Amino acid sequence: MKKILTVVGARPQFIKAAAISHELREHFADRLAEDLLHTGQHYDDVMSARFFAELDLPTPTVNLGIGSAPHGEQTARMLTAIEQVLSTGTYDGLLVYGDTNSTLAGALAAAKMGVPVFHVEAGLRSWNRAMPEELNRVLTDHVSTLLFAPTRTAADNLRREGIDESTIILSGDIMLDNALRYAPAEPEGEPIILATVHRDFNTDIPERLDHILTALDTLAATHTLLLPLHPRTRKSLGTSTSKFPHIQFCDPLSYRQTLAAIKRSQVVITDSGGLQKEAFFCGRGCVVLRPETEWTEIVDCGAAILADDNPEQIVSAARSLAGKQPPQPSAFGDGHAARHILDAIMRYFNDF
Ligand code: UD1
Repeated sequence: MKKILTVVGARPQFIKAAAISHELREHFADRLAEDLLHTGQHYDDVMSARFFAELDLPTPTVNLGIGSAPHGEQTARMLTAIEQVLSTGTYDGLLVYGDTNSTLAGALAAAKMGVPVFHVEAGLRSWNRAMPEELNRVLTDHVSTLLFAPTRTAADNLRREGIDESTIILSGDIMLDNALRYAPAEPEGEPIILATVHRDFNTDIPERLDHILTALDTLAATHTLLLPLHPRTRKSLGTSTSKFPHIQFCDPLSYRQTLAAIKRSQVVITDSGGLQKEAFFCGRGCVVLRPETEWTEIVDCGAAILADDNPEQIVSAARSLAGKQPPQPSAFGDGHAARHILDAIMRYFNDF
């Protein structure tokens, strides 16, 4: 029996971990055991505990309770604590997801201790090194033992960076597994527009946040527009929500609520990476509040439009995509990424 340590810390990672944990419990329990380590990067109930309950994730074996801090300090505290956990020698491998500070800390701690690192969602690139997530992705990929690419583009990015071909596995995207499992079949309720804004370059630069909310408020004058607020966005906005009277602000949604809201949406407007894909999986167009995206397939096929913080472009892109069923090329695998990932991990353990 092999045992892995899965490191999670931020909201999207709880959702990704659910896909693997369920598959592991259902089909690999006789061969592979998993402990969950929660770094505590996200800690509010609506950002953390709620997802464990909703997605039937086991309570983490370890919760480091690190909380918010500047990047260097937050990552360093995680690194120190994860190294201590790994020093017990209990684990045959460490699994990380995506591109957060928790991802980097887990991967770096394990790699330095000679513990194999399995990176789910490897090879994504925005080519924008000003994003903390881009640094986290590149660094994590280059210390990983097995790299699970969700798309061909991601796998090609890794090859171009000289990563050993035998370590790259085109697994498909576990968020497609989740969307197929949790999304409601039909929309329920009146049509809406779902919008989210949480990236630091949008929330922490007042002019950008103002441009985006001005555009959302314009759309909200004629459509019901729901804007769940990440804690960072809520802090940045303070009392200025009253400047945007048409927008319906609310607390962050749970995962199932998010999928249900996407299904009801005529179009989704977001700077999130995950939501861009969830919109796509649900057959909805997406306006991206960034100058570039890692998920280029969605833009290339016309299902998403990059509008950055330009108010006119946000409004016109939303109007042009609203109510249209965008194309759905099968770039994200077969919906069984979790199975492919666990099969590859077991092959690795058996071979070495
Ligand atoms: C992190 C990830 C980002 C991911 C996002 C998902 C990094 C570098 N970024 O960004 O890739 O898309 O998670 O949500 O790891 N806060 C709270 N309560 C919480 C969590 C955060 O109030 O439970 C506030 C704090 O003021 C904190 C700020 O939000 O400083 C930002 O949180 P942080 O975890 O640093 O980054 P995210 O923006 O959530």
